[in-house]
Amino acid sequence: MSWFDHKLELYDRLDTINSKSLAKTVNTILGEVDHEFWKDHCSNRANHPPEDEGEGGLIRHVIKCTYIFEQEARRQRFESFEFDAGMAAIILHDIKKNGEEWGKSTEYTHGIIGYNFIKKFYFADRTIKKLVMNGVRYHMAPWNTTILKMKLELVKNNPDMPLFTYKEFMGELEERTRGMMPNRIEKAVQDADFWGSRKDISFYPGVSIMPDTERNKEYRKHDTPEEWLKEILGFNEKMYLYPIR
Ligand SMILES: [Fe+2]
Ligand SMILES: [Fe+2]
Repeated sequence: MSWFDHKLELYDRLDTINSKSLAKTVNTILGEVDHEFWKDHCSNRANHPPEDEGEGGLIRHVIKCTYIFEQEARRQRFESFEFDAGMAAIILHDIKKNGEEWGKSTEYTHGIIGYNFIKKFYFADRTIKKLVMNGVRYHMAPWNTTILKMKLELVKNNPDMPLFTYKEFMGELEERTRGMMPNRIEKAVQDADFWGSRKDISFYPGVSIMPDTERNKEYRKHDTPEEWLKEILGFNEKMYLYPIR
């Protein structure tokens, strides 16, 4: 299958949305995304399953996530509006994955960039619009961040320099905390993205690939709460607010 077939498959997923007006809006948004979104592989390939690699890999990831979301929504007995908002969000969650200008790797602020991109479009229902935007914004929690990749590199390379202002620190804390307190639509979107991107759980309609467990060991990180906590504490240390010794 070519990347173009996957593109059509993703558009087909719009049929699951009950509100025709919302489906039309999502369709319009998809019409404005970067061309590379349709053709690129999933940019953090080291942490993703094999079917997310190669041309169209990102779209295969998004399509998989829509199926996981659909099952989760059934299991949780979502109301129609909850299903619609969540399905719209999971379809759109990675439209800015490689940054405002499509770059070569994952930009970890892409939830916020996607949120701001969607803000520009007309939605018939403003409440649904907010639910969709937030679903996209917090989809990566607990890894969503306000810190741009360039700044993150700077901080990592200069751990002893106080490079964050108080305002930046509080903004980051708020972003992370909000993402960790999702409503149930956001939670289903987060979970769909999480399960859709587990390296050891490879699946795609018609395709399954056994995991290379030895090779995957080195990539299996950032997955447990302890590791996440370590990362956050690491940030704090770099910010000189709560030095950890
Ligand atoms: Fe993402
Ligand atoms: Fe994703």
